[in-house]
Amino acid sequence: MNVIRRRGWEIPESQLTPEPLVFSRRGVLAAGAGAGAAALLSGPALAQRVADLDKIPDPTADLYPAKRNETYTLDRPITDEKINDNYNNFYEFNSSKDVARQAQALPIRPWTIKIDGMVEKEQTVGIDDLIRKIGLEERNYRHRCVEAWSMAIAWTGFPFSKLLAMAKPLASAKFVRMETFMNPSVAPGQRQPWYPWPYVEGLTMAEAANELTFLATGAYGHPMSKQHGAPLRLTVPWKYGFKSIKSIVRFSFTDKRPVGLWEKLQASEYGFWANVNPKVPHPRWSQASEELIGTGERRPTLLFNGYGEYVADLYKGLENERLWA
Ligand code: MTE
Repeated sequence: MNVIRRRGWEIPESQLTPEPLVFSRRGVLAAGAGAGAAALLSGPALAQRVADLDKIPDPTADLYPAKRNETYTLDRPITDEKINDNYNNFYEFNSSKDVARQAQALPIRPWTIKIDGMVEKEQTVGIDDLIRKIGLEERNYRHRCVEAWSMAIAWTGFPFSKLLAMAKPLASAKFVRMETFMNPSVAPGQRQPWYPWPYVEGLTMAEAANELTFLATGAYGHPMSKQHGAPLRLTVPWKYGFKSIKSIVRFSFTDKRPVGLWEKLQASEYGFWANVNPKVPHPRWSQASEELIGTGERRPTLLFNGYGEYVADLYKGLENERLWA
């Protein structure tokens, strides 16, 4: 994601410096001030930490590969796993696509998830209890980033509707707000103060209940790689990828529309709905076509990323909203 700080009173956007550069000095100072709290691991210390974490067993590994749900079919081959594992957006670690190595420092067991806000009863549940209770299936989905690239992935996980059944939101809840872990001692990106951490995203209750909305715990027939958002990430394939929040620790039910990290940072470019539409360009580039990562191929972008039959009805009567940003 490419972010430019807008200053309405100043020069045109095209002449502005990307925000991370504008703020790098301030960022370095602030990071320095926080550095006493927890030293950032690097070199041999990082390697040792990763080796130690690798020894922690995954208590639900036996559930993979899960049975595939054949309802959801693709118009393209699944992206090669090696390519997918090395081309990621995970700003908690860094803002390049090369996050895989750094992401290995994230401890993913134990991992608890809080369910709170407008629910019958707030609860905290361990990821493995959640997975065993709900069960897993595999689904092949397309994945379209707002940066105009795409992949196709075999996710393993469960429909969001099953989490809703467990969470028992009140009728007054209109949205679900999701939040990623906050752990700057292993996630260097979280020491960059120009991002409004933690990563947050939100859906309407109708979107969360849609049959496509999926919470993934694995990919390619095994538990999810950390760089993809282990141990629990959202996948909403008709929306731009930034909605698909990684490494979730909290689901809060609310009557207020959540403001996601990107919307908070740059509302003129990244909005709440973020539905894929080839006809609505990003303010700084076209969305008419997409690059299929790893193939060299470009294809025309599909409305709702090709999932209109499942989701178009969700947006009837909302034509005045900014549905496509
Ligand atoms: N979730 C968190 N917590 N942090 C991130 O930086 N990046 C988003 C989304 N979820 C992001 C995130 C963006 S911009 C995209 S395109 C997808 O994750 C990328 O998912 P992938 O790396 O598995 O392809």
